[in-house]
Amino acid sequence: MRIGIVTLFPDLFEPFLRLGFVGKAIAQGQLEVCFENLRDHGLGVHKSVDDTPYGGGSGMVMRVDCLMGALESAQAKSPVPLRKVLLTPQGRPFRQPVARELARHAGLLLVCGRYEGFDERIRLFVDDEISLGDFVMTGGEVAAMAITEACVRLLPGVLGNEASIDEESFSESLEGMLEYPQYTRPATFRGLEVPEVLKGGDHAKVASWRRQQARERTHSRRPELVPAAEQDPRRR
Ligand SMILES: C[S@@+](CC[C@H](N)C(=O)[O-])C[C@H]1O[C@@H](n2cnc3c(N)ncnc32)[C@H](O)[C@@H]1O
Repeated sequence: MRIGIVTLFPDLFEPFLRLGFVGKAIAQGQLEVCFENLRDHGLGVHKSVDDTPYGGGSGMVMRVDCLMGALESAQAKSPVPLRKVLLTPQGRPFRQPVARELARHAGLLLVCGRYEGFDERIRLFVDDEISLGDFVMTGGEVAAMAITEACVRLLPGVLGNEASIDEESFSESLEGMLEYPQYTRPATFRGLEVPEVLKGGDHAKVASWRRQQARERTHSRRPELVPAAEQDPRRR
């Protein structure tokens, strides 16, 4: 998979791309990350990429001509088509099904905004708009890292234990519910015991307990995620 990132701050990504499983995916050739520095498409002696908003108001807006130069340059350098994704709090919320959808593309181009955001016209030249959540950050770089990480761990062979992504929160095998509680050693910690069923070695009982826990946890924390077939009739 190739991920292009349009940003004014490529250095922000250095440890993120070097360490952990993202670094491993790059080293193993499963992931290629390429930067398009927006400054290279800036104008004048200061290589400006922003200007004051038409109609007045505070802050600066990212120029559509500079952004377009970066988008076209990134695509021209890429051997695969890049799905162009604008990172914006006004986009569709980033969720696990969206990560699964994006991870199926051979190439993505994540466009990080700064200042007051983008000139509206750039929206006509991208394929998608994604928000990390209902909050506002100063730039799109953290969103680009989150999307990169969530997509790359879904690529075959990137995580050591493939089963760990088969059954986790929001996975298809849990029908989008939250994961059940997990425990490891010690068996007793400050009087808190690991549930007996997990120590008994009966796989069918463990599976049934986990399903029940996932259902109850999702009911109490995120009721909107409980699939219809799992709904408690008393709560419908
Ligand atoms: C200060 S924000 C601009 C917010 C914009 N004025 C608005 O009200 O929608 C600057 C940039 O940070 C990024 N950003 C901020 N919050 C984000 C979020 N929740 N999800 C994705 N990107 C975000 C976007 O790239 C955005 O263009």
